[in-house]
Amino acid sequence: MPTEPPELPQPPEPPVSPPEGPASAAPSRRTFIATTTAVGGAVVAGGLVAGPSVFGAEPAEATDAPPGSGVSLTVNGERHTVTVDNRTSLLDLLREHLGLTGSKKGCNAGACGACTVLVDGRRVNSCLTLAVRLEGAEVTTIEGLADGDRLHPLQQAFIDQDAFQCGYCTPGQILSGVGCIDEGHTGSPEEIREFMSGNICRCGCYVKIVRAVEQTAAGRK
Ligand code: FES
Ligand code: FES
Repeated sequence: MPTEPPELPQPPEPPVSPPEGPASAAPSRRTFIATTTAVGGAVVAGGLVAGPSVFGAEPAEATDAPPGSGVSLTVNGERHTVTVDNRTSLLDLLREHLGLTGSKKGCNAGACGACTVLVDGRRVNSCLTLAVRLEGAEVTTIEGLADGDRLHPLQQAFIDQDAFQCGYCTPGQILSGVGCIDEGHTGSPEEIREFMSGNICRCGCYVKIVRAVEQTAAGRK
């Protein structure tokens, strides 16, 4: 007859809660998180809501508006007198103050030519031209080129030559082309390219743009 194996001694049951003692004096994880959250909350609240009282200083007053200046200039034959921040560019004056949004903001840094307009007959990057320096100036933008319903010859040439795709660069290209023709830099396609090189066309319409400028220059002869 097989005999039952002797019963092995069982390990003692683990205590349900840790025994009281020196180790329990350290904060538990739950206590630690609760404490730090409360402190952190107080810091955040102090920083955002009660910051001045924490640091003993009142928030700084909002700084005064930047100085502005009055400037009178003629845009597309119309006289305007405006007060603008001294840092305002001609491009922002045209677009934001006068509502003439034909001149485009491409790079706003003088690198693309999308903002080209004529100032006293000379082409300029309006994004780099301070408006307050234009007292008495005559400005021509794309809105002022046509004669009523009759397009400027270069505007018509751009249509004839299909010299654009998206059209974003086109106002600047046309104003620059007008300047290029007036300056007499249309002796060859290479010369036109050279003197229009400040006007970038991301759609790559350069060949047709040069043809449009050639067509218009030829019509002047
Ligand atoms: Fe003025 Fe590009 S927006 S040069
Ligand atoms: Fe698109 Fe010139 S037509 S950037």
